[in-house]
Amino acid sequence: MKTETKLRGKKVVLCVSGGIAAYKSAFLTRELMKRGALVKVVMTRSAQEFVTPLTFRTLTEEEVVLDTFQETAGEILHIALARWADLVVVAPATANVIGKMALGIADDFLSTFMLAVRAPILVCPAMNTNMLTHPAVENNMETLRQRGVRISAPGVGKLACKEEGAGRLADVSDIMEEIECMLNPQDLKGVRFLITASRTEEYFDPVRCLTNRSSGKMGFAVAVAARRRGGEVCLISGPSDEPDPAGVEMVRVVSALDMREAVLNRFAVNHVVIKAAAVSDFRPALPQSDRKIKRGEAEPLIRLEMNPDILAELGRLKTHQCLVGFAAETTDLLENAMSKIRSKQLDFIVANDVSEKGSGFRSETNRVKIIDRDGAVETLPMMDKIEVGHEILSRVRRWLDLGKAVSG
Ligand code: PMT
Repeated sequence: MKTETKLRGKKVVLCVSGGIAAYKSAFLTRELMKRGALVKVVMTRSAQEFVTPLTFRTLTEEEVVLDTFQETAGEILHIALARWADLVVVAPATANVIGKMALGIADDFLSTFMLAVRAPILVCPAMNTNMLTHPAVENNMETLRQRGVRISAPGVGKLACKEEGAGRLADVSDIMEEIECMLNPQDLKGVRFLITASRTEEYFDPVRCLTNRSSGKMGFAVAVAARRRGGEVCLISGPSDEPDPAGVEMVRVVSALDMREAVLNRFAVNHVVIKAAAVSDFRPALPQSDRKIKRGEAEPLIRLEMNPDILAELGRLKTHQCLVGFAAETTDLLENAMSKIRSKQLDFIVANDVSEKGSGFRSETNRVKIIDRDGAVETLPMMDKIEVGHEILSRVRRWLDLGKAVSG
């Protein structure tokens, strides 16, 4: 899935403190710059034991700030840099730096600068598990959280000290996702989303199935957009090559019956359901073969039976939920979508013509019409799927503002 970014033109100060993960900050710098951010780097003295300033100077084409008393043309550097920043990222953040930030200690450039910062701050801890779970560090992180600092969840795995556990610097892709969240309005905070994506596969022997061309890109894009705006997202996906989005509860299923079970189990606690999955309407009738059917072994006929219509079932069950369906059409887009909105009791339907180039299955883009239950139609231009996701979510937000759902 193509990554939309809010980082273009944003001024980011990356603070690197002294841990083995300091080298990963070079990759982070590259990713920030790839998404169009202007990056300036601050390093503590111990960070320079792990990576040289030259690495960051070369990547950013900017002088790296190392010292409180570094010469600048008549300006107070820590104040000027704090004024310049739209966003500050501390990665890796050692226990020492986290402690100094919590206590307001200002004894080197990084800590002095942090006191002057008024821009949003993301702290990405990296340290040994015992250090991470030490009450002093936990308290310091809680203090920072209460001040509005965002803390990225450290990764779990083998640590530099050869122990296993939590404490690795979060993956660059996860840190980037945290940053994208910070740059998006948090207008869906507290809203619980159940989103479905991709195709289902209906097997008639262990290697052959009935399926369609859905890749999952559309449903994953809606899930990422909802999470970036503060939503709590559960994504139920059929087979897809798309990686699990950061911060999203992921449920992988195969068949329509699996998807139905997963959706129904979670339906009651969610406020919004968006069904972008292309669910197979049919499945091979039982009994299925438990081994690969050989040529000539049986009459080459597959008898089909109907799968349940999951969305129609949700339409019958719904109490407070906002229900959004998709309609994949090749002819009579509007008429077919209108009839689905009624038969499945939806609040919105997102209609796409899957025969149009650049739209529907597998593409990075989609051209959709969003129709509400009163029949109002909005025709959107061709756009990236994540932007389509944001358009859907903005309409859901307005629906919620009209007084429905979300109280607890
Ligand atoms: O995954 P991509 O490659 O990005 O492609 C995106 C997409 C084309 C799959 C997506 O944009 C889309 O149109 N998804 C809906 C596909 C579909 O199944 O449409 P439909 O018109 O057959 O079904 C209407 C609605 O009922 C859908 O929300 C579907 O999830 C739901 N449904 C359908 C059948 C069924 N048995 N149960 C259902 O819940």
